[in-house]
Amino acid sequence: MASVDVGIGLLGYGTVGSSVNRLLVESADEIERATGHRLRVVRALVRDPAKERPFPAGDEVLTTDFAEFREDPNVQVVAEVMGGVQPAGDYVRELLRAGKPVVSANKQLIARDGAELFATASEAGVQLRFEASVCAAIPVVKVLRESLVVTNVHRVLGIVNGTTNFMLSHMERGGSYADALAEAQALGYAEADPTDDVSGADAAAKMAILATVAFGSRVGYEDVERRGIEELEPAHVSAAAQLGMVVRLIGIATLVGDAVDVRVQPALVDRAHPLAAVDGAFNAVMLQGDAIREITLEGPGAGGIETASAVVADLVSVVGTSGTGFLQNDACWRSLAKLPSSEWRSPFYVHLEVSDRPGVLAHVTSRLASHEVSVAQLVQKLEDGAATLELVLHRAPYGAVAEAMREIAVFPEVLRPPFVLPVITERGL
Ligand SMILES: NC(=O)c1ccc[n+]([C@@H]2O[C@H](COP(=O)([O-])OP(=O)(O)OC[C@H]3O[C@@H](n4cnc5c(N)ncnc54)[C@H](OP(=O)(O)O)[C@@H]3O)[C@@H](O)[C@H]2O)c1
Repeated sequence: MASVDVGIGLLGYGTVGSSVNRLLVESADEIERATGHRLRVVRALVRDPAKERPFPAGDEVLTTDFAEFREDPNVQVVAEVMGGVQPAGDYVRELLRAGKPVVSANKQLIARDGAELFATASEAGVQLRFEASVCAAIPVVKVLRESLVVTNVHRVLGIVNGTTNFMLSHMERGGSYADALAEAQALGYAEADPTDDVSGADAAAKMAILATVAFGSRVGYEDVERRGIEELEPAHVSAAAQLGMVVRLIGIATLVGDAVDVRVQPALVDRAHPLAAVDGAFNAVMLQGDAIREITLEGPGAGGIETASAVVADLVSVVGTSGTGFLQNDACWRSLAKLPSSEWRSPFYVHLEVSDRPGVLAHVTSRLASHEVSVAQLVQKLEDGAATLELVLHRAPYGAVAEAMREIAVFPEVLRPPFVLPVITERGL
């Protein structure tokens, strides 16, 4: 065997960690061709070394002792693939301070503690990379940071959670929310506790990271406006179909002048839009900017080997750039304000259930008009003395639409609170 000249330490040897080792072993020749180096896992930190592993580590690689891992002189570059904010955060900080470059697959850690971790990396003069933390196999961070370095990206649209995309694709074919969740769990796309996925928390962490990299200004997890898919009903999905659209959980990051808006919420997406074609558990990210107009990247957003491919790519980048001065740490170089949510502009969809009385529609549209909001499309259905109105509103500030909806909700003929979602039609070309 050729000599190993870069020792890799893995924090964690689970689904992703063992796949990283598999790729490093099975693709050692390709990696050597690309970097001139042999990379081998020399240490991996776990909780239980006796556990059976899908791709066993070499003899004496597994350890439960972090101090031993940190002090091991053979560990030259570290991949953090253990997850959780703690103790992973403390371990990464200590390793950076000890002068070891780190690549991480941990979206919650990067989205929550990124500022401090990048400062620690800069002080120590070592790299901290995080490609695998967003959309697994899709190389979106590298595209934003390197390929688009001179492009002013002003909008990022993403389907960044495969579980909810699978569930919404399932609902589109006629299933209820409960059926869709049960199917996602049966196929291993959703955890027994799916809260992080269905509430949009997982997508919010990824959008915080993407927006930070795209706009060069820190967006924390808590800065992301978030709404999950739990309130969606088959009626909304079939209304979308009637309007020529599909429902998707969309992350939207927008640069408006000197302010940033980042949100995750279900949205109606026009069937002609590239994101409408993203079916099942896939992810996609659309980047819109001055010089590029639009680029869409699509691929698997989860999975052990898929995520490991991004971890290995980061390891290769670290090895390839070490000593060159190409540090690529904190993406932030400015501090932009958060756009007040009321000023965020979009077309909107409104589902209204009203009693079938003369003048209801005129009442609704005149109240919208009083807030300078106009109707672009309307589908009306009558059933047992009640009417369902499906409205698509022209682009308007969210604040104006929300205020009109608060007033319309208390009309005597309105039977349920209006249900409002943004609509994505234009492609920013
Ligand atoms: N799986 C995916 O599809 C995917 C996709 C994108 C990103 N990610 C991210 O990748 C990371 C790893 O995910 P995973 O699916 O590989 O998780 P996993 O299978 O649960 O593996 C976690 C590993 O970390 C070790 N570990 C956890 N807590 C530890 C502690 N306190 N001390 C020492 N070792 C500890 C575990 O040890 P034991 O083996 O002894 O329990 C295990 O080896 C997470 O940040 C996740 O969000 C995963």
